[in-house]
Amino acid sequence: MSLSSTLFAHGGEDDGPEESRHGLAHGESAFGRPPTGAIHTVAVIGVGYVGLPTAATLAHLGHRVTCGDADPAKVAMLQRGDVPIVEEHLEDLVREGQAAGNLTFVQGATAAVQGAEFVFLCVPTPQGDDGSADLSFVESVAAEISPHLAPGTVIVNKSTVPVGSTLVVERVLGRTDVQVVSNPEFLREGTAVPDSLHPERIVVGADDQSAAARVGELFAGTQAPLLITDAATAETIKYASNAFLATKLSFVNAVAGLCEAVGADVRDVILGLGYDKRIGFEYLKPGPGWGGSCLPKDTRALVHIAEQAGYDFSFLKGAIATNDEQFKRVVAKVHAAVAPSLRDAGESRSGGGSRGGGGNGDGDGGSDRGSDGNPDSGAGAFGGAVVAVWGLTFKAGTDDLRNSPAMEIALRLADGGAEVRAYDPTVVVPEGAGSVNVPGFAVPDGPGSLLAYPDAYTACQGASAVVVLTEWDEFRWLDFAKVRDALAAPVFVDARNLLDPAQVRRLGFSYVGIGRR
Ligand SMILES: NC(=O)c1ccc[n+]([C@@H]2O[C@H](COP(=O)([O-])OP(=O)(O)OC[C@H]3O[C@@H](n4cnc5c(N)ncnc54)[C@H](O)[C@@H]3O)[C@@H](O)[C@H]2O)c1
Repeated sequence: MSLSSTLFAHGGEDDGPEESRHGLAHGESAFGRPPTGAIHTVAVIGVGYVGLPTAATLAHLGHRVTCGDADPAKVAMLQRGDVPIVEEHLEDLVREGQAAGNLTFVQGATAAVQGAEFVFLCVPTPQGDDGSADLSFVESVAAEISPHLAPGTVIVNKSTVPVGSTLVVERVLGRTDVQVVSNPEFLREGTAVPDSLHPERIVVGADDQSAAARVGELFAGTQAPLLITDAATAETIKYASNAFLATKLSFVNAVAGLCEAVGADVRDVILGLGYDKRIGFEYLKPGPGWGGSCLPKDTRALVHIAEQAGYDFSFLKGAIATNDEQFKRVVAKVHAAVAPSLRDAGESRSGGGSRGGGGNGDGDGGSDRGSDGNPDSGAGAFGGAVVAVWGLTFKAGTDDLRNSPAMEIALRLADGGAEVRAYDPTVVVPEGAGSVNVPGFAVPDGPGSLLAYPDAYTACQGASAVVVLTEWDEFRWLDFAKVRDALAAPVFVDARNLLDPAQVRRLGFSYVGIGRR
């Protein structure tokens, strides 16, 4: 059953070949036929990386979904059927919902909740100054919609919120005739559509179990295991999941460091580990450090939650510290790789200088760029070096730069005085522009710089090394002879272990990976 045909199966339209009208090309058979269950009226507030896949999935399941967002430009785009984020299959699913009349977009939360039986809150919960989750977006939406909710409405917290937040929302709503339920989201950017259509589990937590069961029924068509629990447990499950994932990544990065020290190959170590079913292969990939919009803020929030509750989560603090060490290790690898070029150019380390806090306009997850005490990566260490960077997003398959480890490393290099020439397939450089600032990241004055270029080859022009920071598949298939010819020195620092060392070494490159020979 194709995605396009499911559109018409539940939308009631039957005229014409679906593919020709919707241009569906990818993964059409992966989505399956939506069930014919009870249809409900749902509002989704906040149509970002979580809200939009959630809304499109609920519409696919047959529900009547109205999405409200505070950003008028985003709403206007979505009303035209254009999806403002990079997420495979999402545009197809959104257009399917719109064509079926199940999915509409309006400006603001108030307009969206009119007549809704369920209201999903999918607004940001950024990291506060003390590491705690900032609930101000959730609270402000709750205050805004409260007077407009019909009696019996169920408010569903899908934003990642600390334990006790259902009570916070209840208090802000100030209504005894509506219920608040926790329904944490586990989707991964890059695979958000399959993750939403076929979740591995659905967790719903509420003190009123009948409200939780009603929310669970909305997702009946996904066939996912449904865990109904109390609100505090549901909220804890979300944080514990992200803390575990972060810990697993820190563990494998630490093992990679060990491999380098003892002369082992981390890729074979991972094979040997992963065949043990108790361990598994997932999330055992060494890299430049973990990041993204969730893991840094959620791990810090959990440390804070634990502290508030009188528990010292030192284990998780260790995983966070290991991650910061990983950033430093990668920067040190780059320094070692470009050191010969620096010497050749007669550059002095003292000639550079820090940009004093970097150009990161976004939260940086509490890192301390350029002040790590490592002589190989501190202020001025890269003065005069030109470094090419491949990949800026926090992972492949998304355009999300929030707390990206790739951005973290690139900015540390720039803070150290390097001229960083970056390429990422999702950072658009208008024709004729040559290069652009990375959107959302202002570059202040200073000896270092970070600019995005239109392709991987141009980014390499005159650079003393290429640093692979995001695992975009296209980087595997480049013309490496052309890359070599563009570079001032043929050096790869592969922080994703993406490339084949033998292949690039044959072409004259020196190659450094993470935990591999
Ligand atoms: N991104 C992920 O992979 C992911 C995964 C699981 C959980 N989460 C959690 O989901 C929540 C949302 O994350 P996201 O990545 O989708 O955020 P996002 O920034 O992509 O989207 C949030 C949306 O909310 C809108 N918004 C903000 N204030 C609003 C208001 N008052 N009224 C209406 N709309 C408003 C914004 O315009 C934006 O479109 C966070 O709590 C996050 O931790 C995210």
